[in-house]
Amino acid sequence: MRILGIETSCDDTSAAVVEGRRVMSNILASQDALHAPYGGVVPELAARRHLETISDVIRRALGEASVTINDIDAIAVTRGPGLVGSLLVGVAAAQGLALRSGRPLLGINHLEGHALSPLLHAELDMPFLAMLVSGGHSAIYLVRGIGDYLEVAATRDDSAGEAFDKGAKMLGLGYPGGRIVDELARKGDRRAIAFPRGRVKADPLALSFSGLKTSLWDFLSKRGRDFTVEDVCASFQEAIVDVLVARAQAAMELLDVPRVAVAGGVSANSRLRERMSKLSGKVVFPPMSLCTDNGAMIAYAALLRLEHGLGGDDLTVCSRLPLGPRRDAGVDAAASAGR
Ligand code: KG4
Ligand code: ZN
Repeated sequence: MRILGIETSCDDTSAAVVEGRRVMSNILASQDALHAPYGGVVPELAARRHLETISDVIRRALGEASVTINDIDAIAVTRGPGLVGSLLVGVAAAQGLALRSGRPLLGINHLEGHALSPLLHAELDMPFLAMLVSGGHSAIYLVRGIGDYLEVAATRDDSAGEAFDKGAKMLGLGYPGGRIVDELARKGDRRAIAFPRGRVKADPLALSFSGLKTSLWDFLSKRGRDFTVEDVCASFQEAIVDVLVARAQAAMELLDVPRVAVAGGVSANSRLRERMSKLSGKVVFPPMSLCTDNGAMIAYAALLRLEHGLGGDDLTVCSRLPLGPRRDAGVDAAASAGR
């Protein structure tokens, strides 16, 4: 089966052709430079830029895969969560293509794309945990099967990517800041500054990063000049990574599921990869090119859904789209993990 995947949920315009587990093409038009002066994504600018680039990105994805739209079995497009204006551009483009070609069109949850993306390159038995850490989301899901997900943990405030980006902004490092902090942290001392590890008393699995952000702000206004930017980055990054690793480990133990797929933009972080790989149990990551938003993960999620006899969602765009029910919504996670 050969799928064309289209992803425009935030600030990256992407289209890809995926056949089985082979990524035939994965074209990405980044908007980083457009939003950098604002230190974050400006929704209206993002939607307008998607509109300018989407046709060319789709054309290039088909061209690089050496196929035409007639060689495609189905078209998949992100319907949410994300910025409504951005999502609408992708869905409208996909609808136009589907109309012209007569190919079926599947609406895909962006989070499902991230959660299943490590399976493009790695084997992982079900059920497994998917730790999704990106700019828009930080959550842990129990993947019981394709299309069958349970949210077992989520952030109470900022996402991990937001923490990286806001920290980088305070340090004047540019946007998006995660990759820059990661690079500077390699030369710093991660024990130099004791930043807090956010926790939520009522829920040992919940994530929280807003206290860390405030703490960095306090630190920079009082003692920032005594330390190098590398030390600050290394210590700040370690606080984020510590929280993520601890929650992943707690979820593995609580649910007795020793398998984790880490995905989303922050899964590109070198220290997170190093630390997660030391956990007992199997931990897999997507390849670097598939960590941040991309069309291939949307195509692959659609392909797995079709292979499992599932269709896509409808095409209504939705800025806040959950991936399955919450654990605290009366569902016994351990029981639903199959024991
Ligand atoms: O998945 P993604 O492309 O978009 C969302 O769905 O949000 O994730 C983008 C996020 C940004 O916050 C960016 O700073 C972060 O991923 N990121 C990183 C790294 N590369 C990207 N964070 C930490 N270390 C990295 N190497
Ligand atoms: Zn994403």
